[in-house]
This record gives sequence, structure tokens and C-alpha cells, in this order.
Amino acid sequence: MGWKTLDDMDLNGKTVLIRVDINVPVEDGQVTDDTRIQRIVPTVHEVLDRGGKAVLMAHFGRPKGQVVPEMSLSQIVPAVEKCLARTVHFIDGEYGARLGELEMGSVALLENLRFNPGEEKNDEGFASRLASLGDLYVNDAFSAAHRAHASTEAIARLLPSCAGRLMQAELSALETALGTPKRPVVAVVGGAKVSTKLELLSNLVEKTDHLVIGGGMANTFLAAQGIDVGKSLAEHDMTDTASEIISKAKSVGCTIHLPSDVVVAREFKAGAANETVAADACPADAMILDAGPETVANLEGVFDTSETLIWNGPLGAFEIPPFDAATNAAAAKAAELTKAGKLISVAGGGDTVAALNVSGAAEAFTYISTAGGAFLEWMEGKTLPGVAALEG
Ligand code: 3PG
Repeated sequence: MGWKTLDDMDLNGKTVLIRVDINVPVEDGQVTDDTRIQRIVPTVHEVLDRGGKAVLMAHFGRPKGQVVPEMSLSQIVPAVEKCLARTVHFIDGEYGARLGELEMGSVALLENLRFNPGEEKNDEGFASRLASLGDLYVNDAFSAAHRAHASTEAIARLLPSCAGRLMQAELSALETALGTPKRPVVAVVGGAKVSTKLELLSNLVEKTDHLVIGGGMANTFLAAQGIDVGKSLAEHDMTDTASEIISKAKSVGCTIHLPSDVVVAREFKAGAANETVAADACPADAMILDAGPETVANLEGVFDTSETLIWNGPLGAFEIPPFDAATNAAAAKAAELTKAGKLISVAGGGDTVAALNVSGAAEAFTYISTAGGAFLEWMEGKTLPGVAALEG
């Protein structure tokens, strides 16, 4: 690791600019999941406890350089105050003057950075304006580190910079899972489309011993083997690509696991009548909505013999029960092995975390990333600009 942490910084009497990701779901003005806010607490409290002033910088939604009142971060202030158990001073517009009035030990939150067109352009001028507000820069937003924006990239070159505790935890969990993992390593990749996870699959076959493919993308792989998948979601124009991934896996010694049995239904809705059939026996008028029990048993066997698991994407249509059964069963098995100290388990990506939370298995995992796109890009083997900038 080429970056500094809070351990390397003198925070006493310093105004510390902390890039956080509090891009949380909000319904009717209420934060419905405050996980991302909870995860920034250790860094903010440490800055305050060590004599600093914390100035939080963040984005919310995609206002594209315009002031969009519905995307104001002011609506998140109560949730941030609750998690931090501190007053949070919201700073709109001209930042400098108000910040100067706040004493050491205070917390401020700047208005949505993406209201300024300079943020997403990684504009030096906007980054300098932000940098002028503080003495130090801390990046605690791993989940926004795949963006080269003024507050994640350019600013890191303008001030003494380091990773916050959450950034540190995310990077070290991902390093454990994919950088220098204990082998064998199994990756579970689910989700709808091969096309969105191509680079991910190509990178994973090189880095893992077992690659379990689930969800809609498994149908594309079955189709690539000449199997009729009926009305299932599948990208028939991606079957050549799927075949290439299978051959690449063979040549590098990664075993690909596809469903051997599947749960099929004629309607995409919760509680739809369904049956379990062999993977090559999907009726022409039905669609595959989940992996079957034999597939799950095989998967559990792979987990039993693995040391490390990295998971992105559900195995079936987990949002409409009972088609969440394979995802829940596999998650429960991973949780059980993790609790017994037999498996290191890391999961990330929006849908994945939602699925694991519903199944109740998330708490037992070794690490659950708060990142969506950044987690995927990291798994693809890409350099994240926000991390690279800290490495200077
Ligand atoms: C996220 O929610 O994944 C991050 O906050 C990044 O948001 P973005 O995709 O709008 O850059």
C-alpha cells in the first residue's frame, strides 16, 4: 500500500476535509438505509477526538452540475447527526466564511459537490477552492473512488492526504479477497447480464480457482452450450463471448460452475407456480428464475473446500420469493463457514448487499463493502483514480 492513513497525520488544531460517500437511499425525505453514514463514524470521531475540525464533502445523486433542490444534502443532515451523535453545521453556497467561525471539535457538511460543474470535470480550480478550506485531506469514500472528480482526485494532489478508516478497511478486505488471498478462492457472480460484467468475469477466471455463475447471466452461458433456455432472460448475442470465457477458464485452471438444475416459472412474480427441472430441460414457454437444490448442494461443496469467497450478484430473482431460495441457502452456508472460522467471505455491489441483508447472512460475512460500481471496477482489476491519487 502506497498511501498514508490517519496514523501518519497530526490532526490537532487542523481543519480536516473528509470526502465521504453518503449517497444513501431516501424516500419521502427519510433515509431508508443509513449503512453508509454509519461507516464514516470512526473516521469523523477520530478527527474530532484528536483535536481537529471535520468538514465533510460529499455528493448526492447525479444533478449534473446544476443546483437541484431535491438533491440537496440538507435532507441528510438529521441522519448524519443521529449516526455521529453530534451537531452538524450545514454549509450552503460560500463555504469559507462560515467554516472559519466553527471551533475545533465541530462537524460541518458542505452542500452537494455535484451542484458545481467543476466537481465531475475534476476541475483544478474547483479542487483548489475546496483545498483552500482546510489543512488536510482524508478520503473515506471508497465507493466513489472509481470517479476521477475534483473532491476524489484533483484535491488529493493539493493537500497532505491520507485514507480514512473506512477506505482503509475496504482496501484491506479487497486485498485479502483477491489481491493475496488464501486459496482456493471461489467467486460467485450473479446478476442479469453478461455484457455488464464481461471484464469482471475475464479478470476473475485468472484470479480464482472456482467461478460460480448465477442469475440471468448463467442462462447466457447455458445457451452458449446449445441449451434451449425457453423464455429466460438471456443475451443470445453474447454466447460467443460466454464460450470464450469458458475456454479461457479451462486454459488457466479455473473451474466454472453453471446450474445443473433450475427453478422455472411461467410468470415473473412473487409466488408464481414453479417447478424444478434439469438445466437442459426448461420448457419452451417457461423462464429460469433461480438455481435448483442440486446446484446449491454443489455450490455448498465448493464453499466447503474453499478458503476465500468473493461474492457479487444474486443467484436468482431474489426480489420475488420463492426465487430467492438459492441465494439465501448459499448465503447461509457462507455465513456458517465464516462463523466457524473456515472461510473468509467478502461481498459487495448494491443488489448483493440487499440480498444478503434480506437473508440475514450479511452480519456473519467477514466484510461487506458499501461500494457498488467501485467494488465492480476493483474486481475487474482496474485502478481506481481516488485510490491512485492517494498514492501520489
Ligand atoms: C454509489 O452510489 O455507488 C456512489 O455514491 C457513486 O455514485 P455515482 O455512480 O453517481 O458516481
